[in-house]
Amino acid sequence: MTALPMSEHVPVIDVRNLSVHYGEVLALDDVTLSLAPGRICGLIGVNGSGKSTLFTSLMGLLVPQAGSVELFGTSTASARRGGLVAYMPQAESVDWTFPVSVSDVVAMGVYGQLGPARRLKAAHRAAVDEALERVGLTGLRKRQIGQLSGGQRKRVFIARSIAQDARLLLLDEPFAGVDRTSERTMTALLKDLRDEGRSVLVSTHDLAGVPELCDEAILLHRRVLAQGEPSQVLTHGNLALAFGPVPPGTPAAAAAAPPFSPLSPAASDGGS
Ligand SMILES: Nc1ncnc2c1ncn2[C@@H]1O[C@H](COP(=O)(O)OP(=O)(O)OP(=O)(O)O)[C@@H](O)[C@H]1O
Ligand SMILES: [Mg+2]
Repeated sequence: MTALPMSEHVPVIDVRNLSVHYGEVLALDDVTLSLAPGRICGLIGVNGSGKSTLFTSLMGLLVPQAGSVELFGTSTASARRGGLVAYMPQAESVDWTFPVSVSDVVAMGVYGQLGPARRLKAAHRAAVDEALERVGLTGLRKRQIGQLSGGQRKRVFIARSIAQDARLLLLDEPFAGVDRTSERTMTALLKDLRDEGRSVLVSTHDLAGVPELCDEAILLHRRVLAQGEPSQVLTHGNLALAFGPVPPGTPAAAAAAPPFSPLSPAASDGGS
């Protein structure tokens, strides 16, 4: 569907020296990061660490004070025009009273492929049907979006991304308020989408779920504290930098790779 060239060598996301202020507040400070195609990257940080600001910057929804953002080797605007990128905003910033049905929202994913008459052809309808089927919302397709549960609303956005055939999914807290079963289902779906060659940047507060879901992780605290394999990023030292000291027995502690110590029990029980 896109005229833009895609190569496995061109990063899907390429952010360089990005700084964003809201008035006096410095939300992102000299952020440099990149994401290769076909990877799921978890974006982790405390409330107010700049995760949503990074998403809105990637979508070109705010103008940075410094630095650059490229998606697929081109500008954000042209990647969006090409239908390459889909965005699920944090639930709090969505107007759920808007009078549209589930299938209307999913159909918005194919709007970029329609002519000026905005008429859905059979292939577009099939794409919408297939997307609804993949997220298990076929039976709820006629519901107004505000009449869905929190977890179902997240799946509507993922279905819209699938109908759009987006190559990059930007998901701002898709697991917030989602139960374990739905989280597992969504994790499996995102990994299937990754295996089809799509890329996913996903913010989450569920640190324990990161190693299962993500190929890599970014720890953000206004600046990038670490980026790499989850086991390299989610160390006690890094988590303490981002969240303060990690109390034992918490999900954060469970997610953290044990610090290396020859005296630590983890060193002798196969922990890495
Ligand atoms: N529209 C705005 N006007 C002024 N300040 C803002 C605005 N949006 C965000 N901020 C501030 O910018 C910083 C980063 O906010 P952001 O929403 O990006 O954080 P976040 O990591 O997404 O947090 P959360 O986990 O709570 O969603 C915070 O200090 C926040 O108060
Ligand atoms: Mg946020």
